[in-house]
Order: sequence, then structure tokens, then C-alpha cells
Amino acid sequence: MQSLEGRASQLLDCCCIDRCALLERTFFGMKSMDKNELLETLKRSILATEKTDFLKKLSEIGPCHQSVVFNDDFRIPGIWNPLHLSEMLFRGLPEDHWEGKRVLDLGANSGGLTLELMKRGARCVAVEYKREYYEQMMFWKKYFDISDDLLEVHHDTLFNSNKLGKFDIVLGLGLAYHFRNISSFLDYLHTITCTHFFISTQLMAGDGLVAVNRKEFHPKSRLPVLGWHVTNNLFINMLEDSGFENIRVLDEDIAKCGWESIPMGLTNNGYYFVEKNTNVIDFSAKNMKFL
Ligand SMILES: C[S@@+](CC[C@H](N)C(=O)[O-])C[C@H]1O[C@@H](n2cnc3c(N)ncnc32)[C@H](O)[C@@H]1O
Repeated sequence: MQSLEGRASQLLDCCCIDRCALLERTFFGMKSMDKNELLETLKRSILATEKTDFLKKLSEIGPCHQSVVFNDDFRIPGIWNPLHLSEMLFRGLPEDHWEGKRVLDLGANSGGLTLELMKRGARCVAVEYKREYYEQMMFWKKYFDISDDLLEVHHDTLFNSNKLGKFDIVLGLGLAYHFRNISSFLDYLHTITCTHFFISTQLMAGDGLVAVNRKEFHPKSRLPVLGWHVTNNLFINMLEDSGFENIRVLDEDIAKCGWESIPMGLTNNGYYFVEKNTNVIDFSAKNMKFL
């Protein structure tokens, strides 16, 4: 990926002589600057103009939900923080864990988390079915001239992703609670060629094996079923039932609280790292629609 710094230098290479001459004229007699100061000022002003232009064009696509962090002072603002999300996934794993891995990010939104994984050396495939999020991601992919080898972006339903090849890690984050049938979603994930999965959902508090229609929390919705909030215990049972094992709850404390107390910047309170139980072979057969 070409860095912002690189783009600025490239621009400087192309046009600094004319612009320096212009600036020297502008500042002549008002403030003396040596050549280096002038170049730094020019660089900052090019960066600021580029950033403003970039963010303006991006906002024309629509508001971003997931923030995207290019560097400390250049980010797309959003309510979900990819640094918090990635911190959750990075827990307990060595820094080089993602290096060279092929990672599938399902429901990738504006791609903020995908970018964090790329910063750790992953080659990512992002699937997002809502057009505006897909376009936001394509916009920054093109802007930074990122090759398909490093980042593939698909505007598609995640239910086609078992055709995308083999992965080292699959992320199914912030999805389960939206579906009419959580187990069908988990059964489908199990059909993707991969051994390790990060899966997250919004949980309700309590120890019982209980699910509540999310309609209860959004009574004005015209939909009779809005997806499900389940307890941590029930979700673990569902994961096992769909053929996952070695289930690790990444943060036991927030998984115990209700979804109402999800920490700022996260989308969910139940985060799990699981492995596929390869002895279980035919879960998809239970759900004919996915065959
Ligand atoms: C709650 S957001 C979670 C975003 C991100 N994965 C995270 O955890 O922060 C759910 C995202 O999944 C996308 N999505 C929902 N259903 C999908 C589907 N069937 N296929 C692909 N993307 C889907 C939504 O458009 C949205 O961007």
C-alpha cells in the first residue's frame, strides 16, 4: 500500500518547484523560511487538502459506521472503533499471528477492522452486502491503490462465501443476532473451508438457555422477528451444535453483562474464538437452502 507520506512525496516530486516558487513569492518580505521549512509547510498543506477532499468525497457515499484508521491523524470517523475491535481479537495471540494469513471478514462494513488486520500482515477478503459500505471500502482501497492480492472486496451476501476458497481465519462478527435463525448462520459458517473462526454476537445477561426476540427492544419495528439476543451459555451451546469446539470466550466480563452495556466502540459483548470440529461432516445437510 502506498502511504500517505509516499503520495505527498510523489506530489512534491511532480510539482514542488512551481509551488515553492509561488510560496516564496507569497511569503517574500513577510516571513523568511528556508527551503526545508517551505517544503514541510507545503507537504502539510497538500496533506490537509487531500484529506479534506478525500473525506468530502467519501461522505457523499454516506455516513460510515465503522471508523477506518489510516494513521494517527488521518481517519474516517465512525461509531465503531476498529482499534477496540482488533484489540479484542489480538488478545492472547502473538503479534505475528496474522502475518501472511488469508482472512475472510464477513459483514466487513466500511473495512476499518479489515485494515487493522492488514496492518498486521494479513491478506484479507471482505464481504459486505450493503452497497454503501461496500462502496466506502472500495473508495479507500482505490485511493491507496491497494492490490487485490492484499485486499479483495465483494459486494455480496455472506451466504456465497464458501465459494471464495480456503482461509486461515474467518471473522463472523456482529452478524448472528440479526438473523431469523442463529443456528442456520452458524451451520453455514461451518461450511467455509477454514479451521479458526472469530464469531461475535450481542448477548443478554443471565445464565439460562434463553433467547429473546430483539423486537422486544425495538417495539416500533414493523418486523415480527428482529433477530435474537441469547445468553452466553445458549450461544456456546449453539456453537457446539453447529460443529465448533475449543470455544474460548474472549472477554468473560462483558459476556456476562447485557448487550445494553456494550463498551463504547464495540458492536457486541460476546466475542468467541473457536475451532472447527472436523469430525462433524454434514451440518449443511440440515439446512437444504444452503446446499
Ligand atoms: C452490526 S454490523 C457489524 C460490522 C463489523 N463486522 C463489526 O463487527 O464491527 C453488520 C454488518 O454486516 C453486514 N451484513 C448483514 N447481513 C449480511 C449478509 N447477509 N451478508 C453480508 N453482509 C451482511 C451489514 O451491512 C453490516 O455492515
